[in-house]
Amino acid sequence: MNHLFADTANLAEIIEANEMGAIQGVTTNPSIIAKEPKGSFDTLIQGLAEYCGSENLSLSAEVFALDYDGMVRQANEMYEKFAPICKDFHVKIPVGFDGLRAIKTVSRVGVKINATACYSEQQLQLCASAGAHYVSLFYCRLKQYGGDVAKVLERTRHYIQENSLDCQIIAGSIRTQTDVSDAWKEGADIVTTGLPVILEMVEHPKSTEAIQRFDKDFSAWLN
Ligand code: E4P
Repeated sequence: MNHLFADTANLAEIIEANEMGAIQGVTTNPSIIAKEPKGSFDTLIQGLAEYCGSENLSLSAEVFALDYDGMVRQANEMYEKFAPICKDFHVKIPVGFDGLRAIKTVSRVGVKINATACYSEQQLQLCASAGAHYVSLFYCRLKQYGGDVAKVLERTRHYIQENSLDCQIIAGSIRTQTDVSDAWKEGADIVTTGLPVILEMVEHPKSTEAIQRFDKDFSAWLN
């Protein structure tokens, strides 16, 4: 499976990508939310959940607490509010000591988790074992840090298969259309990226040139 998600909390961008049939889901994080006009977090996620639910898109929204109790409380509250509206709703929980404990606790009661902020195969593997349904690798950030993203993806994929875990790998932090194709080829089930990269994937200057030429030739023939 090679799916593409939109990494944005902007509804207009989500609609634009979805109307082209380009995406199967949406991911957000606190920094992405902070790009939207100030307002209520719940109202913003509610709007995204209503649209994603009606369009059968997956949606991930992240807890903003950093401690175990806060993460568990927010994950349960968010799942209770938004999973009934959007059936493929996932709560994002960042990896770490408290994060892993929270993933284990809430996944046991049926909350679907997207474990995020992972930079290593060990983090991805531990999150998958703790019960996360999605594990998110910060692909380009790791690459910029000198990491071997292909090796991380390949080994994590192998680990998930070997242990028969119900978990998909997301490559996030994507900067160009080449990163999208590379991440898919290297073993990511899902790549998530912003609208600019999705639009970059749609157009090619030579396609535009060819279409304009067809239009010119055909118009001349008609007249
Ligand atoms: C993925 O889950 C994250 O939301 C995201 O892709 C982080 O990417 P950035 O490096 O563009 O902030």
